[in-house]
Amino acid sequence: MPLQAPGRVLLSAEDIARRVEELGGEICAYYRREGRGELTVVSVLKGGFVFLADLIRHMDIDLSLDFMAISSYHDADDRPRGVRIIKDLSQSIYRRRVLVVEDIIDTGLTLSYILRNLREREPEEIRVCTLLDRAARRIAPLELHHRGFEVGEEYLVGYGLDYRQRWRNLPFVCVLEGAVADGRLT
Ligand code: PRP
Repeated sequence: MPLQAPGRVLLSAEDIARRVEELGGEICAYYRREGRGELTVVSVLKGGFVFLADLIRHMDIDLSLDFMAISSYHDADDRPRGVRIIKDLSQSIYRRRVLVVEDIIDTGLTLSYILRNLREREPEEIRVCTLLDRAARRIAPLELHHRGFEVGEEYLVGYGLDYRQRWRNLPFVCVLEGAVADGRLT
């Protein structure tokens, strides 16, 4: 049986493809215009990998790829308390240009931790690209340089985003609805 989407489609595969191509062009234009120094594109696992894979194929410039993985921890009331690195970059970013690629920025806590951590390594510059921006839920203010779509507060899955590790492989982004969203199905 084919994989069922757990709710309505918010961004179709075509919507995403069109915007990702535009973002790739926008990013390349920036680095062509401003670009001195070598570029490292950093993806934050796991959610960012699908977007990254599509985005870099629209980035017609010289770059290296690297990956980080982060684990967030929460208090008893499920409020975010902090993050720690569970997989670090494999290469130095000293004096390099860095582009952090995220699938979604929500409270901003994960990214602000990552940015603080990366800045200590003295890169030439750090910029941020996110496919989805859930700006209404921001706690930590952040500057985003490239942004695909602003989204509302609904829980989203697909195109790398998960609910309990499921649905990352959907080729579109959909709103989690029904029994799963109500917590009746796990
Ligand atoms: C998502 C996303 C960001 C983070 C954003 O990752 O990829 O890293 O949440 O949330 P924030 O702005 O509130 O900090 P998640 O923790 O779901 O892990 P995953 O990438 O493995 O799905």
